[in-house]
Amino acid sequence: MKYEKLGNSDLTVSKICMGCMGFGDATRGQHSWTLDEIHSYEIIKRGLELGINFFDTAIAYQGGTSEEYLGHALKKLVKREDVVIATKFLPRTDMEIEQKISGQKHIETMIDQSLKNLQMDYIDLYIYHMWDYKTPLYDILEGLNNVVKKGKARYIGISNCFAWQLAKAQSLCEKEGFATFVSVQGHYNLLFREEEREMIPYCKEEQIGLTPYSALAGGRLSKKLGEDSKRLREDTYAKFKYDATEIQDREIIKRVQELAEKKGVSMTEIALAWLFTKVTSPIVGATKPHHIEGAVNAINITLTKEEITYLEELYVPHKLVGVMAQNH
Ligand SMILES: NC(=O)c1ccc[n+]([C@@H]2O[C@H](COP(=O)([O-])OP(=O)(O)OC[C@H]3O[C@@H](n4cnc5c(N)ncnc54)[C@H](OP(=O)(O)O)[C@@H]3O)[C@@H](O)[C@H]2O)c1
Repeated sequence: MKYEKLGNSDLTVSKICMGCMGFGDATRGQHSWTLDEIHSYEIIKRGLELGINFFDTAIAYQGGTSEEYLGHALKKLVKREDVVIATKFLPRTDMEIEQKISGQKHIETMIDQSLKNLQMDYIDLYIYHMWDYKTPLYDILEGLNNVVKKGKARYIGISNCFAWQLAKAQSLCEKEGFATFVSVQGHYNLLFREEEREMIPYCKEEQIGLTPYSALAGGRLSKKLGEDSKRLREDTYAKFKYDATEIQDREIIKRVQELAEKKGVSMTEIALAWLFTKVTSPIVGATKPHHIEGAVNAINITLTKEEITYLEELYVPHKLVGVMAQNH
């Protein structure tokens, strides 16, 4: 495994972050394809054995059970200080707004619940999951600063935002002396490269870490065209994100397959090796222990300039999808 500093924080993270959205009670959330506690444990254990120290979850994943499964497993397997845990909070609900619960109070309640789910007393990276248009930005930033000051979170990160939103938030944090964001978790992979226009150059300029999600496009970059899986069949949210551009994306998937065959490696390795040339630590999901082994193997692959161009040249701009399509 290789490790790198996350942005300008003191966190040292593995070059692969284990995505935990696929762990959790399948009856309690958005996804029907998630793994139960025993199977989640096996993947977490294998990841640790391979040197992964960076884990990404969220209070939103399967009603908090992803956080619970991760917390139980890590408690059995590793010392708390040897892992870097990222989790995310959601916007205020309409009920909270009606009850006049402030953004600051909302964040405190959310982090307390996540800490309980994880059975931990601090979170390394606390992430603003999606832009909350109904709560003043100042309240969010002060709420985040409060949890950092209290030692409940070591650093803060942000996900699903535009570069202008992050720049605005950072300058307000700097003006107020609040904790600033050390990393961005955006949707970025060979099939969806909208982050390249504004966010990636901004983060490079400001030394903000990049930990993109859906590094394998929900499995599409790991599988030959026509290959099937429970997740590909049941993950309607991801289908909604990728179906509209399926025909043009197919040609990129074919190039990933072609390069994988030429180099005698898996498609996963090619897709991640490309991401390593752009970001700090891609977040990779796994539903089987061998998935995480495949992801870790990618660390040893180096792509030539020509191979990178070959993978990139067919891309055409895509409409925003998923959470970012609702960021307005
Ligand atoms: N901030 C956000 O809004 C947000 C949104 C989405 C995700 N995330 C985070 O990002 C993480 C990853 O997202 P994701 O699950 O969409 O990403 P992904 O890494 O693009 O896809 C994971 C899927 O790829 C397949 N796969 C992985 N390794 C493989 C291998 N070696 N060989 C063959 N197939 C392999 C598996 O598909 P099959 O199961 O089909 O075999 C697995 O379920 C999540 O767990 C979560 O932590 C964050």
